[in-house]
Amino acid sequence: MEVQGSSASYNEADVQALVVPVFQGEKTEDGLLKELDKAAGGLVSSVLESEELKGKEGETAYLHVSNSNGLKARRLLLVGVGQQEDYGAASLSQMAGTAIRFLRGKSVKTIAIVPRAKGDAGKVASTVVEGAFIGIFEPDKYRTEDKEKREIERLVVVVEGGDENALNRGVERGRIVGEALNLTRDMANEPGGHLTPTGMAERAREMANEFGLSIDVLDESRMTQEGMGALLSVSRGSDEPAKLIVLKYTPPYSAEPPETDLLALVGKGITFDSGGISLKPGENMELMKYDMTGGATVIGAMRAIAQLKPPLSVLGIAACSENLPSGKATKPGDVVTAMTGKTIEVINTDAEGRLVLADAISYAKTLGATRIVDMATLTGAVSVALGDVNVGILGTDQALIDELIEAAQEVGEKFWQLPLDKEYSRQIKSDIADIKNVGGRRAGTITAAAFLKEFADGVSWAHLDIAGTAWGEDAKPYRSKGPTGTAVRALINFIERDARGKAADDEAAA
Ligand code: BES
Ligand code: ZN
Ligand code: ZN
Repeated sequence: MEVQGSSASYNEADVQALVVPVFQGEKTEDGLLKELDKAAGGLVSSVLESEELKGKEGETAYLHVSNSNGLKARRLLLVGVGQQEDYGAASLSQMAGTAIRFLRGKSVKTIAIVPRAKGDAGKVASTVVEGAFIGIFEPDKYRTEDKEKREIERLVVVVEGGDENALNRGVERGRIVGEALNLTRDMANEPGGHLTPTGMAERAREMANEFGLSIDVLDESRMTQEGMGALLSVSRGSDEPAKLIVLKYTPPYSAEPPETDLLALVGKGITFDSGGISLKPGENMELMKYDMTGGATVIGAMRAIAQLKPPLSVLGIAACSENLPSGKATKPGDVVTAMTGKTIEVINTDAEGRLVLADAISYAKTLGATRIVDMATLTGAVSVALGDVNVGILGTDQALIDELIEAAQEVGEKFWQLPLDKEYSRQIKSDIADIKNVGGRRAGTITAAAFLKEFADGVSWAHLDIAGTAWGEDAKPYRSKGPTGTAVRALINFIERDARGKAADDEAAA
């Protein structure tokens, strides 16, 4: 899909279909809808008056405007976007996704969207393009029949009178972010038998080579040398070796003075989680192919960072392993020693994410990370607490957490903080080792984070539990069922905001 910005009038857009959002209860008395109504010979007011379209989110009305008065597009799609005062990044992005999915179904190839959003033209354009890329993704790679073959060739974002440069930069940013997000979704959708830890390392390597990131992949012998007993205990039951993928983005020009701060993104990359000896029930076990979404989120975000080139270095680490039962597998009750020397009693082999993350976080520290944001499909408990609406966020640095929540909000994502009081750490005390890997039935998401905290001491740290939000159980008008790519946009925005803050600090210091 080719994307472009236009600051000319929507009348001029040389496309098959024009997309216009409609607010709840909006009429054609004035403004854009009045103009369109005129061009469409009264069809817009007729649709609104008949209440076929009330402007509720996700509603659509599709019009053919054959005798159009000055309108180049011969088709008009009205998309409901809800209350005007709530029209922010989330509804803007969803409007674009809904439009793309709807029009693709009608075999339309070229589309112009008039976002009708206030604010910076570049931001608006980026959000629209991101939403369009989210909408276009179809998880049907393995279908040989009934595959979605209809493609959108060109999307134009029309912000009349908008700053042309800002608009074009926004459109380009939207493409970069949208493609990164779909890489994450594509990987999350891969069956465990197709995407193993080795496969993930290959995908990461291809991406790194294409976009100029440095990459190092630790194999099991190097992990043994590093003493990563926690990570290695998870892959022990599998014939597929674990891989620790380490990506690094360095800005094209060296920062002056040299950077003292290093941000690391760390993701859980369990390419299939059967539970191990603590085997999961069969129902829905197939979904545990997406237990590597944290790792894929890191890889997706790093892909975008490599192209957006913010002026700060970023490490991206994905801890990849399978979690399977076998005669060699770690058993409940076994004690393993993490890279830091801390001993862990493995009560439940299904609580494996925290084991791989423990060593990945420690390794990030040895590489000089001073701030760590980890992300993982870590606990079923986060779905109980927050459903599929909010990502759970916890950590030790409130300023970092606040920044992440704000960065998420700005791009239409939702992060909700859970507490991490020291009292919760009592639940992971072991009778025979330093700590144990489960903390009982209560506060499951928090005790999982309390476990990670043991390894994130000395740095500024935040943890995202994306187990409830990484997978959409139903299709929505704006995206397919399946992997959602949640947190990719938030992380990219967080890094860009952080870089802007740094740039401002540097200026103030100079
Ligand atoms: N990968 C799962 C968590 C999960 C559940 C992700 C559902 C996505 C959807 C994780 O490894 C796990 O099994 N966690 C256990 C921990 C328990 C044994 C303490 C859980 O949440 O039940
Ligand atoms: Zn598990
Ligand atoms: Zn898991």
